[in-house]
Amino acid sequence: MSAKPTIDGLLAELKALARISEGEPPVVTRVVFSEADMRARTYVKGLCASAGLTIEEDAIGNTFARWAGSDAELAPVGTGSHIDAIPNAGSYDGTVGVLGGLEAIRILQRAGFRPRRSIELVIFTAEEPTRFGIGCLGSRMLANVLTPAQAVALRDKEGRGLEELRAGAGFRGALESVALPAGRFHQFVELHIEQGPHLEAEGLDVGLVTNIAAPASLRIRIEGEGGHAGGKLMPGRKDALAAAAELILALEAAARSTGSIDSVGTVGVCEVFPGAVNSIPSLVRLETDIRDTDGVRRDGVLQALKDACVEVAARRRVVITTELVNADPPALCDATILDVMESCAMEAGLSYQRMVARAYHDSSFVACIAPVAMLFIPCRGGVSHRPDEYASPEWIASGVHLLARTLERLAS
Ligand code: GLV
Ligand code: MN
Ligand code: MN
Repeated sequence: MSAKPTIDGLLAELKALARISEGEPPVVTRVVFSEADMRARTYVKGLCASAGLTIEEDAIGNTFARWAGSDAELAPVGTGSHIDAIPNAGSYDGTVGVLGGLEAIRILQRAGFRPRRSIELVIFTAEEPTRFGIGCLGSRMLANVLTPAQAVALRDKEGRGLEELRAGAGFRGALESVALPAGRFHQFVELHIEQGPHLEAEGLDVGLVTNIAAPASLRIRIEGEGGHAGGKLMPGRKDALAAAAELILALEAAARSTGSIDSVGTVGVCEVFPGAVNSIPSLVRLETDIRDTDGVRRDGVLQALKDACVEVAARRRVVITTELVNADPPALCDATILDVMESCAMEAGLSYQRMVARAYHDSSFVACIAPVAMLFIPCRGGVSHRPDEYASPEWIASGVHLLARTLERLAS
C-alpha cells in the first residue's frame, strides 16, 4: 500500500453523521433505536452499499457489511465499532471505527487490492448503556455473554422493553440467532479514539491496545423516610440522599485505595425522589461504574462498595438493595494481530506505543469468539463523551491508514 491517504471524503462523512443527532450541533445524541439512530444507520448503510458491500442485519440490529474475498470458504476478517452516542456526546467515539473502517476498505479497493478473506465491517448495536443501562448490548449478545432471556428482561427508563423497541426499529427475528460461533471471524480489529490523554501528550500517532479494562456496574436503591425539611428535626432522620453521599465517597475511597492507577470508580447517575428543596429525600437510585485492568482488583472495589451498602444501611436505618448489572472480565488482545499492526506501523513510519484501553469497547466481547486487537488514535486533551471531543484529520488519517494496511495483511 502506498503513502498516507487524503481523507477529505471521510471527514465530510463524519460531519454528516454528526449532524444526525437529537441535539443541536455540536451536540451529538443518538440513543439506540431512536429516530436519530435509525437515520444514522440508513446513512451509513447507504455509504456501505455505494462501496459495493453486501449488507446483512441480525435480530438486534448488528449490521454486517461485507467485501467478498476471493475464497468464500474462509472466515472473514472483521473491523468496525458503533454509531450510537450518549446524550451530549461528540462526533468521533465509535464513528471513527465505523466510517474509518469503511474508508480503509475503500482505500484498499482503490489500490486494486483483492482480499482472499472477506473483510466485514460491523456496526454494533448500542455500545453505549444509555437506553438499557448495559453497555455493548449488540456485541454482548453476539458473543452470547448476554442471553436472549436476559436481553428480553431489559427495560428503558420509560419501562419499554427490548422486544417492543427492536420491533419498532424493524428488527424482528429470534434473539437466539444473534449469537455467533467461535471462528465466525478469523480476526477482528477495531479503530477507536483513545478517550484519554496519553497519545496526544506523548506526541504519538497511534496506540496498539494490548488489553481492555474490566468494567462492572452496580445499581443501588436506597429507601429512607421522607418528610418536611423544616418540621422534621435532625435526630431520627432517614435521609436517603445523605446515605447515598456516604456510598459515593466510599466508592471513591475504595478505588483510590488499591494502590493502582488502573482502578477507577464513578457514580454517574443519582436520582432523588421527590426532588423538592423542602422535602427530605425518601428514595435515591445510584448507578455506579467500576473498572480496572485487573479483574480481581476490580472485584475488590466492587465488594468494598457492597460492604459499605450493608454498613450504611445498618447505621442509618435505611433499606439498601443492590443489583449487579454486569461484571465483565478484562479482554486480552491477540499477540499475532498486535505484531502485524506493529510491523505495519513501522512500515508506514507511524510513531506508536502499546497501551491499555480504559473505556470498554465492543472488541471486549468479540474477544470471546475471535482474536481481537484495537488501534487507538489520539483525541484532543483526552476529551470524550462531550461535544468538544475532537480528533484531527492527521490523527484520523494515520489510524485509517494503519487499519487499511493491517486489514490488507490479515485478509491476504
Ligand atoms: C464506553 O463508552 C465506555 O463507557 O467505556
Ligand atoms: Mn462512548
Ligand atoms: Mn466507543
